[in-house]
Amino acid sequence: MKKIIIGNWKLNLDHLQGIQLLQKINYSLPKDVEENIDIVLAPSHTSLRSLQTVISTDKLKIKLSSQDVSMYKEGAYTGEVSSTQLEKLDISYSIIGHSERRTLLNENDEIINQKLKRLLEQRITPIFEIIFAYEPIWAIGTGQVATIENIIEVLDFTKNLISSKSFYDQEKSRFIYGGSVSPDNSEEILNLNIVDGALVGGASLDSDKFVKIVNSIKL
Ligand code: PGA
Repeated sequence: MKKIIIGNWKLNLDHLQGIQLLQKINYSLPKDVEENIDIVLAPSHTSLRSLQTVISTDKLKIKLSSQDVSMYKEGAYTGEVSSTQLEKLDISYSIIGHSERRTLLNENDEIINQKLKRLLEQRITPIFEIIFAYEPIWAIGTGQVATIENIIEVLDFTKNLISSKSFYDQEKSRFIYGGSVSPDNSEEILNLNIVDGALVGGASLDSDKFVKIVNSIKL
């Protein structure tokens, strides 16, 4: 399975800073990296258009993800961004059900389920259901990483649970880890067979660290 590294920029960087970081990352990535590893960046909504323009003009092989999507298709929902709008921008992925939104913004399963449907309608890959992310809440943004045994145990359990469901697609479902991934621990985590990639928060804001994480995958 091709591994995937997703940089989740969270509520950081304006669009000009975002373009700079995208270009730095692109410049430092190994040539033809996309043949072996999918590289995805998830900036704020306000940066998506600018980054997408740079990616398509310069024909970069980096893909974009939104950090969220509306559960509604369209209408009187002030402040929302729809899956159709994202699809028009060539956004390939969208993070939904992130633990920060669940805990800080009271998102529940019902809402996340609606968001999932909106994404699937537009053929945008959800980073949640199709790519199952194991993110121990206590490890997100804390610098504390889960133990290797813990990662294997939880991903194994999740995989077993999911693989019996009708929507499971062995070819397309990826199981990734998120929670304080850094160049110090990425080699050990990302080279586990069961780990198909990582959702990287803090370390993705630093191009050197992000590229080191990508490079720690043994091909
Ligand atoms: P972190 O964030 O790497 O800063 O812990 C992970 C995430 O939000 O997925």
